[in-house]
Amino acid sequence: MSEAPAIVFDAVDKRFPRSEAAEDFYAVRALSFAVAAGELVAILGPTGCGKSTTFNLIAGLIRPSSGRVRVAGHDPYDEFDWFRGKIGIVFQNDRLMPWRSALDNVALGLELNKVAREERVAIARAWLERLGLKGHEADYPFALSGGMRQRVSIARAFAIKPAILLGDEPFSGLDAVTGDTLRREFVDLVRETRCTGIFITHSIDEALQLGRRVLVFRRPARIIYQARLGPDTPAAERERIRSDILHALGGTVATKEEP
Ligand SMILES: Nc1ncnc2c1ncn2[C@@H]1O[C@H](COP(=O)(O)OP(=O)(O)O)[C@@H](O)[C@H]1O
Ligand SMILES: [Mg+2]
Repeated sequence: MSEAPAIVFDAVDKRFPRSEAAEDFYAVRALSFAVAAGELVAILGPTGCGKSTTFNLIAGLIRPSSGRVRVAGHDPYDEFDWFRGKIGIVFQNDRLMPWRSALDNVALGLELNKVAREERVAIARAWLERLGLKGHEADYPFALSGGMRQRVSIARAFAIKPAILLGDEPFSGLDAVTGDTLRREFVDLVRETRCTGIFITHSIDEALQLGRRVLVFRRPARIIYQARLGPDTPAAERERIRSDILHALGGTVATKEEP
């Protein structure tokens, strides 16, 4: 924890043009926060508040309109190639390559990291087994259920031993039971690997489960509430945090996972 922050947002704006006449639309406005190395942060907020835009800024998929984003001391957009194979990402949709088998999908990041073929096959196999997919190594994504595909994409994210793990609503596309099981396994994996993690969600339960710190966003993306919690946080304190979050959101977020 004594290291430099893993992720820094410094007065970040992200504007999107609306039309020739209208003013730009702010998806993110004056957003500042820092995430320490090893911290697990859940970003919670209603649909449309700018969570994915924030996520895309961290992942270097888009560039801020103003302000500064740093991840591990680097600019994730300008130095996109530097990050290749270093950050594990799990999206809401699995985003697997349909023409690659489960094994080859998991091995993709290792390939980019120039890990030798034999070693990457061994690592990918081990991760698929860990995610309960032994026997499905040769299956293509179309042959797998949604839950299984998401397991493959989680295996792919962990296989590169990422220092930073990012999840954008990784469980909201799944049915409640599958999502719940996978979320629990995911929490264990994240704790084991001790990476820095940012998880985006619109579910309070999920935020409280995944985060040691919960940031609540409101549109345009800015922090309106935050709380720290851990495994030792007493139930009464968790309940207080939950009701503070609900209050901060004005009831705009579901407490249970939505379909
Ligand atoms: N590329 C884009 N161009 C224009 N508007 C966008 C773009 N991306 C997102 N937005 C708008 O920014 C707002 C926040 O979107 P998003 O970050 O996806 O929200 P969330 O993930 O919290 O649901 C929405 O109103 C959305 O329509
Ligand atoms: Mg989103």
